[in-house]
Amino acid sequence: MTIQWFPGHMAKARNLIQKNIKLVDVVIELIDARIPIASRNPNVSDIIGNKPRLIALNKADMADSNISNEWKEHFLKIGEKCVFVDSITGKGLGTITGELKEIMKPVFEKSQSKGRIFRPIRVLVIGIPNVGKSSFINKISGRSIAQTGDRPGVTRANQWIRVSGDIELLDTPGILWPKFDDEEVALNLAFTGAIKDDILDTETLALKLIERLIETYPKQFAERYKLDPSEFEATRDEHESSLALEIMEKCAKSRGCLIKGGEIDYTRISAIILDEFRGTKIGKISLERPVAVVCD
Ligand code: G4P
Repeated sequence: MTIQWFPGHMAKARNLIQKNIKLVDVVIELIDARIPIASRNPNVSDIIGNKPRLIALNKADMADSNISNEWKEHFLKIGEKCVFVDSITGKGLGTITGELKEIMKPVFEKSQSKGRIFRPIRVLVIGIPNVGKSSFINKISGRSIAQTGDRPGVTRANQWIRVSGDIELLDTPGILWPKFDDEEVALNLAFTGAIKDDILDTETLALKLIERLIETYPKQFAERYKLDPSEFEATRDEHESSLALEIMEKCAKSRGCLIKGGEIDYTRISAIILDEFRGTKIGKISLERPVAVVCD
């Protein structure tokens, strides 16, 4: 479901998170392992205040593991706890309880020194739409009650889901909004299908994706569309967008995306390239690296 993020929606979503945050000990901020910058709300630190946070990079199964390792180092360097998870198979979810306990250690110790046993750790999951909040909550709790296609401003009674003897999750995730006003961010969200609004028409979006992939993953792209990667080099002195168009036409020919008279079916080949990218058919691809990134 597409959410149009207008100021009123943002304010409602923010208020809801701030209301729910008072009930929890830790926040799990879910981001997309392929686009850890674009899938992060730039104001998240302001929104959650000083609540301890664990960053979970979801859809790790779709990301380039070499780049994920760079992100792991990056988060370690800036002192943020992070885990990589796949909310479909559940890979990586087993480490969450340990990480949460580690985060809560000072609080546990304080309770212990007063002769008290701390209740289960209460957790709120937050993230932008489509990042996988519902999938994450369902998988980690072994239930299927989290709302999918959630909308800002829709309220209902909160319930606690017991994940283990030590962890309870609020069943309603907090919805953050992505930042659309930066072109690079908007494109990365659109490439991955995080925003279903057409920020660009499909053909322009596919051309932009081709430009990106022949630069960053030329071998995988060439293999998928039976092209010779040296062709990307041979014409590189051309303007980037005309090179991308030329390559799109080659992909179309290789896939038989032609209409009557042998004309290129641009609409079909564009949809194929976007779909195959989103379905990881071109490869496990990460669109953002932690170079000179300032995280909050
Ligand atoms: P949300 O609550 O944050 O809005 O996200 P949701 O769980 O609805 O997940 C959005 C899409 O991402 C779903 O796919 C879901 O299956 C997929 N997804 C979530 N986590 C992961 C993950 O770790 N790995 C992979 N590969 N996919 C993940 P969909 O195509 O929108 O729906 P469907 O395929 O479930 O029908």
